[in-house]
Amino acid sequence: MATQTPAKFDINTTLRMNSGHDIPVLGYGVYQTPAAECEEVTLHAFKTGYRHVDSARAYRNEQPCADAIRNSGLKREDIFFTSKVPPKSISYDAAKKSIESTFSQTGLDYIDLYLLHAPYGGKEGRLGAWKALAEAQKAGKIRSIGVSNYGVHHLDELAEYIKTSDVGGTIDVGQWEVHPWLPRNDIVEWCRKHNVVVEAYCPIVRGQRADEPVLKKLAEKHGKTWAQILLRWSLQKGYVPLPKSVTPKRIEQNADIYDFELDQEDMKNLDFPDSYAPCAWDPTTSND
Ligand SMILES: NC(=O)c1ccc[n+]([C@@H]2O[C@H](COP(=O)([O-])OP(=O)(O)OC[C@H]3O[C@@H](n4cnc5c(N)ncnc54)[C@H](OP(=O)(O)O)[C@@H]3O)[C@@H](O)[C@H]2O)c1
Repeated sequence: MATQTPAKFDINTTLRMNSGHDIPVLGYGVYQTPAAECEEVTLHAFKTGYRHVDSARAYRNEQPCADAIRNSGLKREDIFFTSKVPPKSISYDAAKKSIESTFSQTGLDYIDLYLLHAPYGGKEGRLGAWKALAEAQKAGKIRSIGVSNYGVHHLDELAEYIKTSDVGGTIDVGQWEVHPWLPRNDIVEWCRKHNVVVEAYCPIVRGQRADEPVLKKLAEKHGKTWAQILLRWSLQKGYVPLPKSVTPKRIEQNADIYDFELDQEDMKNLDFPDSYAPCAWDPTTSND
């Protein structure tokens, strides 16, 4: 089941998606990573042990990510690469073009995961963009497909479309800002019901919660940093956290999260079910 929570984690732990493919549970985010340094820092991430890179057309760094994949010395099938249809390209034609551009820019033979970046473009645009993903998947270019920043109403709309048409495809992954101060329990519950893997972006809240007393207490208790506590929380919730850093030491620190465990009480201390405090944009509430 895609929403399983493994009993034990290491850096090679994966989750099985509805597509039948596996996704490594620790991802490396490259939003705001300048193209000029992206290959070098992504190579450092690979050296550290990450095998999963989260990029997007909109980040303008798919090409250096692909260069890092080629120059890593690793086998292509050992690396998981994600890109996304830009928020302004959510229609059948524009999504098709986006996918084509990813292939021409990266030179990759296939993409592991392609997401719709945001639920914009109106209903027709959203469903058309999904059709473009499903076709690319059928053609073997993209292995798994999904969405990002979809609210429950957008997810219901898509599930209904898949059920009542011959478009095909399964929602393999959903990506949202998720952390203790934005737990998104309604969306997570929807995903659990449909076996959709939940990817957590801004998993360390862009550093904005570093001084929270609860993080200080747990960091002291476990001899880890506040960022490692948050990433471990994400893993233990069954999510796929996507921490971003261009700083080698932080890249290493963010992957050094397998030698401790948060107990039930620790997890309870990080449970704020009524909190709704995004640190990034929030298209989930869009009624476009
Ligand atoms: N689908 C979407 O709409 C969407 C939106 C946002 C993000 N994302 C994805 O999720 C990834 C992560 O989100 P994000 O980059 O917004 O936020 P984030 O990972 O929560 O935070 C990144 C920030 O924290 C700093 N940082 C990283 N590790 C640290 C550590 N151990 N200690 C202290 N500071 C640390 C980084 O600085 P340095 O880099 O300078 O080290 C950077 O400023 C993105 O890269 C992207 O792949 C997706």
